[in-house]
Formats: sequence, structure tokens, C-alpha cells
Amino acid sequence: MPTVVLGISGSVAAYRAADLARELMRHGFTVRACLTDAAAKFVTPALFEALTGQPCLQDTFEEPDRGRMAHIDWARQADAVVVAPATANVLAKLAHGIADDMLTTIALAHTGRLILAPAMNPAMFASDPVRSALDVLRSRAAVIVEPDEGEVACGEQGQGKLASIPQIVRAIEGVARAGRLLEGQRVLITSGPTQEPFDQVRFLTNRSSGKMGSALARAALLLGAEVTVIHGPQREPLPMEAHRIPVQTAREMEEAAFAALPGHQWVVGAAAVADYRFAQVESGKHRRTGEPISVTLVPNPDVVAGLAHAAEPGVRLIGFAAEPSSELDVARRKLAAKGLWAIAANDVSVPGIGFDADANALTLVFADGTVAESGRRSKLECALFLWETCIARQLNSQS
Ligand SMILES: Cc1cc2nc3c(=O)[nH]c(=O)nc-3n(C[C@H](O)[C@H](O)[C@H](O)COP(=O)(O)O)c2cc1C
Repeated sequence: MPTVVLGISGSVAAYRAADLARELMRHGFTVRACLTDAAAKFVTPALFEALTGQPCLQDTFEEPDRGRMAHIDWARQADAVVVAPATANVLAKLAHGIADDMLTTIALAHTGRLILAPAMNPAMFASDPVRSALDVLRSRAAVIVEPDEGEVACGEQGQGKLASIPQIVRAIEGVARAGRLLEGQRVLITSGPTQEPFDQVRFLTNRSSGKMGSALARAALLLGAEVTVIHGPQREPLPMEAHRIPVQTAREMEEAAFAALPGHQWVVGAAAVADYRFAQVESGKHRRTGEPISVTLVPNPDVVAGLAHAAEPGVRLIGFAAEPSSELDVARRKLAAKGLWAIAANDVSVPGIGFDADANALTLVFADGTVAESGRRSKLECALFLWETCIARQLNSQS
């Protein structure tokens, strides 16, 4: 049975969490409730224990199984963690990684997508701090179940009423279902820049930060995949749950990718592989002479094209085309020339997206000519868009 941790924070709407718990149980979930201290002024642990048949947590140091850290156990065992109602205070804490009670500690320890159903006075909901907390949480792929318009508990009108129980249940079911979309499937991702040495201390590289590759890995993990990332020397950390293979040069990346390829159903080439390398690599350090020097660059292998050629039929290969324009001609030519299933084009001439930025805007072009656009979003949201679009297409083509 899928398990949901139902976090309840200090809003008048806390009483509606009892109906939510019942409805989730009717939908086949095991429900484990966790209250903040403020929530416990409105509703009691005894109510949720009686309804769910599970212990209800409140204090960070409570351990229903002695010697086992409940915040980690509950976070790991949950197919979904939802906070309903979510107060302005809890949203701000979650956006900043504050974990000063049991609920926020479980939420921080959970590696899946959080589902947050805010409820508060309309002026609080419209305030800048709540707006920015929600933006931060969305950029980290939290699912926000928007509050309804109407009269709130204090008698004022506006947006702030806890969303309906069916809406919250749908969001929870969506996250729990999405967490199985890539279950049993293996994903191979190349990420980051490569470095092509000139001598022992200098190299040729590019501006790739590895943020898109890291986001693709994280998103694939959120959807239940087993993930291998072959990565150049990138600044962006990769998820700990991914199998990570570090390389330096394009040729090392090619070798590692070919070795890893068997058994993967999906391959995404998000690395910015240097097109050229130095024909000669000097040993030691090239000394300054004051004279101009000429170097010869020779072409590097096209890693993703090579993988497309070597892959078994049925493996889905997705390339990336970072181009200084929104025209899709180059992306379409690359898609055909490299024998890919799809290509994600992004216009790196637009400020704030693409190389080294936290946001991106992808245009997915498929081999049959169809196109899907993500719009401007965080790289994690773009990565989820890429996976969900590609999985939907694959399922359609199978049916
Ligand atoms: C009667 C009453 C109703 C409240 N309702 C809300 C609410 O709906 N939403 C909200 O964000 N805060 C509400 N608050 C304020 C929170 O309870 C307060 O910010 C508290 O510190 C939240 O703690 P928690 O986020 O740990 O649950 C209410 C406070 C009171 C006294």
C-alpha cells in the first residue's frame, strides 16, 4: 500500500485534514499524520491516530520504534509527503531549509516532490514573502495546490481557502503515480563540460555548469529511474542516489558512455562535449617565449551520435542543442544527422537561461517533426517536463 505523510500546520483549516486523511485511506493510502505545535492547538494527535490507525508525530525526538529515527524512516518510506493546510510560516521554513520541528524535518529529509496546500488570510497569501517562498518551492518541483477564492475563517474575502479535498487527493495521487513512471528503467545521462588538455596545467573547456545534467538526473530519480551520470569536471553537485562516473576529456566521456550503454533504455546527451582537442598535448608546462604560437585542433568524437549508432533498437536517445538563436533548423539537422529520437533545443542567446543559469526554456523536437515547449522554468522543472513529455510519447507510440 502506498504511504503518505500528511503534515498539518497551524491554520484553522487543520480540521479539514481529518477528512483528507479519511479520503486518502479510501484511495488506498496508508496515512501517517504529523502535527506542528500550532496545529495541535486546533486538532489533536489522538484524532489522527484514531482515524489512521498509525502513530501521529509532533515532537522531533519522538520515536515510535525505539532506536529508529522516525523523521528519516517516515521520509524514506513515504510515496508522498503533503502539507495540508500549509501555513505561511511552514512555507517560508521549507523554502529556506529550516527544520526546527518534526514536520519540517521530515519534509527536508524527503527526496521526492513535496505537495503543499496553502491556507491563510488572503493578504498573507498575496504577500511578497509568501509569493517568493512559493516560487522557490515550485522551482524545486514542489506541487502547489492553489488555495480557493472565497470567504476565509477571519471573514475576509479573497484567495486563501484550503483547496478542496478531491483537488489535494488528485495532486497526491499524481505525485505517487509519477514516482513510478520510470520504475525499473535505466537512464544514462552525460553532463557538464569536458576539458581538453593543452599541457599539464592548461586546458580548453566551455561554460557548461552541469546544472541541466544534474536536474535531468534528479528528475529521472524523482520518476523512479535508476540513473547513471557520466560527467565532466562540473561545479554543480550531482544527486547522491545516481551512479556517478567522472571523466575529463571528450574521448574519456565517449569510452565511459559506450561501456555504460548496455542495459539503459534512455540516453540523454546533456554534456557540452568539446568539439575539438589539441593535436599535441605538451608534457610539463609550455613556457612563455614572447612569440606567437600556432596550435592544431583536431575534431573530437560526437559522443551522442556514436551512442545513437551503437544503441540497441528501442533505446530512446535524446540530445541537446544549445544554439544562439530560437530557430529550430540547426536542432532539426542535428536530430537527423545524429540519428536521435528527440532533441532539446535551447536558445543560449537569451539572458538568464541556458549556460550556467538556474533557468532554461526547452523546445523538444521529435524525429517525426512534432515540437513541445516547456516555457521558461527552473532547470529541474524543465527536466521534469522533458521526462514527462518523452514518457507520454513513448506510451502513446506503444498503444
Ligand atoms: C486562530 C488562528 C488561526 C490561524 N490561521 C492561520 C492560517 O490559516 N494560515 C496561516 O498561515 N497561519 C495561521 N495562523 C498563524 C499560525 O498559526 C502561526 O503563524 C503559527 O506560528 C504557525 O505555526 P506552524 O507553521 O508551525 O504550524 C493562525 C493563528 C491563529 C491564532
